Amino acid sequence: MQAYVWIKSAHIVLVMAWVAAVFYLPRILINIAEDGGNAAVRDRLVLMGRRLYRFGHVMFGLAVVAGLVLWLGYRVLPGFPTKVGAGPGWLHAKLLLVAVMLALDVVDGRQLRSAARGGPLPSTRMLRLRNELPVLILLVIVWLVLAKPF
Ligand code: HEM
Repeated sequence: MQAYVWIKSAHIVLVMAWVAAVFYLPRILINIAEDGGNAAVRDRLVLMGRRLYRFGHVMFGLAVVAGLVLWLGYRVLPGFPTKVGAGPGWLHAKLLLVAVMLALDVVDGRQLRSAARGGPLPSTRMLRLRNELPVLILLVIVWLVLAKPF
């Protein structure tokens, strides 16, 4: 059981690191949209964005590995507990929302690449709206995993 709790702790910390990157990348895009006229400022912001995007995806990858162990570990590790065996409905709904959050993050990554080439960005109003979406999705994800309603 101790191993389960350690892996779950690692899962939550890794998810927090990924989500921090998901929340911050649109802010960098907003700064590029507002100050990208100055090439030195834009290049610095693009570099920060690239490092953040890469860091976020490493954390996400590790969070998924920990999540898969929490999900399927009981099939290969004798005595390893599971909270999914009973009914995985909550996990399927959770993974669907995680996929939506990942898609939003990939779109941000693509816009960063376009900005690096001097390409257009959406309006700062649209970027700010987009910035709120992952917060709402995260709220539902955490509720699903704590309440396990179905
Ligand atoms: C935004 C992404 C994610 C968030 C915020 C998140 C959050 C959490 C939290 C807070 C817990 C602890 C729940 C508890 O102790 O009751 C948890 C457990 C778990 N997560 Fe995630 N997770 C995310 C992504 C994933 C992914 C991608 C997977 C699968 C590959 C996954 C699979 C699991 C499993 C199987 C558990 C164990 C359930 C339990 O023991 O109660 N999670 N997650």
